[in-house]
Amino acid sequence: MLCHRQHILAATLGWALLPIQCLSIPSPQQAHGLLNRRADTRAPDPIDPTTFNAILHYATYAGTYLSAPCKTPPLGAEVVSFAQNDSTATQQTIFRNRGDKEVILAFPGTANPTDIGTDLNFPQTPHPACDGCAVHQGVYEAWLSVADQTMAQARAAVQATPDFKFVIVGHSLGGGLANMAYVDMQRAGMKVDLVVSYGELAVGNQQYADHVDKIAGASDDNVGMFWRVTHANDGVPLLPPNALTSIIVGQSFIQHRTEFWAQDGPDGEPANLTTTFRCYGQMSEACNTGQGGIGINTAHVFYPGLNVLSCGIPRRDESSVRGGV
Ligand SMILES: *[C@@H]1O[C@H](CO)[C@@H](O)[C@H](O)[C@H]1NC(C)=O
Ligand SMILES: *[C@@H]1O[C@H](CO)[C@@H](O)[C@H](O)[C@H]1NC(C)=O
Repeated sequence: MLCHRQHILAATLGWALLPIQCLSIPSPQQAHGLLNRRADTRAPDPIDPTTFNAILHYATYAGTYLSAPCKTPPLGAEVVSFAQNDSTATQQTIFRNRGDKEVILAFPGTANPTDIGTDLNFPQTPHPACDGCAVHQGVYEAWLSVADQTMAQARAAVQATPDFKFVIVGHSLGGGLANMAYVDMQRAGMKVDLVVSYGELAVGNQQYADHVDKIAGASDDNVGMFWRVTHANDGVPLLPPNALTSIIVGQSFIQHRTEFWAQDGPDGEPANLTTTFRCYGQMSEACNTGQGGIGINTAHVFYPGLNVLSCGIPRRDESSVRGGV
């Protein structure tokens, strides 16, 4: 229950602290930019079983929150390396799964008060990936605090098994870290095969979101190689809240493609293949964006296939694992 409590804490305490972070001066022009943005409303499409199974598969790694470094890795994987920066409380684990022939870099999400400080440090700061790119300062600093070590460890892991796929995953704040790791690794010329985030908070402005889509090859025609998985009315993909940031700091956060939205059944039955969709546009009103979720809620913690207590607790039956906590 520990993680659950911490998430609730982040939701309540975290956003109650919001006003003290609100120090910058608004730019009405930028605030209006968001309001003038055309809503993405194209109806989502069904997905195939292979994609759905991959979403479940990578969720098991994105759920490796506890007992860092992970003592009981999922799916028979081994821990290759682990990095943590105590001053930002940011960590990652690199797994290798010889059966699946893949190397997985996994970032856990918000788990302590330092992480909450990271989440709330949302004024944007320029990012060198493109002209006009700006990103969430707290998440960027968190990523930079482990970046050198992570790049070196990832290079070493990939070089040791060059025929394996290299995949980056993360849940919540960890999804934002996965995003930043991907962008910097791509800039450094490293080969990344797939990125899968779950309940990723928004970490950049419009230019940054467009840049991510461009390097990932994502469009209405192509899913690309960065999957942004959302669930029901999870409110975290809508954080930081533009209604506040656009007015308070004159900046808007825009999500990137390609969103896969796992909806629950009408009576709260868990999401399955037939209720999970490929969405169009960056923030489709027909998917998670349109559900009006606020902050860290139940939908944020219980992603299909994701169990935030999975690492450290042996499981009896992998295939029956569904939600977190
Ligand atoms: C940890 O993060 C702090 C703050 O960003 C940074 O000054 C420090 O160099 C980092 N430590 C390592 C070992 O990278
Ligand atoms: C998938 O979920 C829907 C909605 O809850 C349900 O009607 C359907 O029976 C489920 N399908 C499977 C294969 O479980």
